[in-house]
Amino acid sequence: MSESTSAIEVCIAGTGSYVPERVLTNEELSAMVDTSDEWIVTRTGIRERRIAAADEFTSHMGSKAALRALEQAGMQAGEIELIVVATITPDTPTPATACHIQAQIGASKAVAFDISAACSGFLYAMKICKRLISDGAFKNALIIGAEKLSSVTNWEDRGTCVLFGDGAGAAVLRRAEPGEGSIVATEMGTDGTLTHLLEIPGGGSALPITADNANDHLQTLTMQGKEVFKIAVTRMKEAAEKVIERAGWKAEDIACVIPHQANLRIIDAIADRLAVPNDRVFVNLHKYGNTSAAAVAIALDEANRSGAFKRGDHIVLVVFGAGLTWAAAAVRW
Ligand code: ACO
Repeated sequence: MSESTSAIEVCIAGTGSYVPERVLTNEELSAMVDTSDEWIVTRTGIRERRIAAADEFTSHMGSKAALRALEQAGMQAGEIELIVVATITPDTPTPATACHIQAQIGASKAVAFDISAACSGFLYAMKICKRLISDGAFKNALIIGAEKLSSVTNWEDRGTCVLFGDGAGAAVLRRAEPGEGSIVATEMGTDGTLTHLLEIPGGGSALPITADNANDHLQTLTMQGKEVFKIAVTRMKEAAEKVIERAGWKAEDIACVIPHQANLRIIDAIADRLAVPNDRVFVNLHKYGNTSAAAVAIALDEANRSGAFKRGDHIVLVVFGAGLTWAAAAVRW
């Protein structure tokens, strides 16, 4: 799905992120399941991940990231008109986590709702909010990717438990003033014939959790990693190429690529196919693992705050997740 150009440009005015204090290392996981630091680092690039406390919910992490993004944007929560939270681990099935965050940060004017697009959710939210702002429906929006994946992880399955972590990232979008940066092009895609490759099978209306199946790990993430890996590389490359082409850029014009943080081998393969040197590709998955919708949002904030790009630079964000879903955005900072 592509977009047409619009008179009102939309910029990213501030970013923020938050990760829980508790670090879970590969060594600790090696004592829990039959794995090793060597296997995890070689196959994924992940060295450690963060785990939220029992009383630390997705909304709490999202609120902390949101307040940091607001501070950087120089805005008060009360000015925000729209909050969209991307998550597959909402505090509660209903109401939306965005409603909890609206109350926690005091964004009393904001319309708030969640979207479910797994790891692609933050860029889905970016496209939706860009359009709603450029159409004039809202002046600004807070987009948040927040996940407590530790609550849907099967800690007995070495094939998945080594991959995931908790955290949140956020960005404030608003109408751009002349001379400011803008979200230049966005792309989203879905292949619903491949839902079975990556899913939480139980806990929804198809397979409710009952006293009989409560111990079957139905409410945890399952993944056919090899199949997902191949499709992720292809779809992320295609999505990134589309936004780069639509923006009228070339590979050498790109200061920073910020990919979904699932696997270093996927990231390297995409950098290679896009002909972007590795030192222009932002990676933080060694610290946090795969935090689904939060991953690209946390990476964007860390890249921004670490000076990986400056005003006027061209950056490309690209993601892939359950659905299967994928998305990309070309942003002039
Ligand atoms: N420790 C040791 N051995 C392991 C582990 C582990 N933690 N996990 C699996 N193995 C074993 C397997 O049992 C298998 O053994 P076998 O050959 O005897 O059968 C062997 O290692 C190879 O397993 P594979 O699954 O084939 O390993 P692969 O190289 O494909 O790596 C991985 C697995 C890391 C999951 C990779 O496929 C991947 O990253 N896939 C894509 C993930 C992704 O991008 N997800 C999208 C977003 S996630 C979201 O939306 C929430």
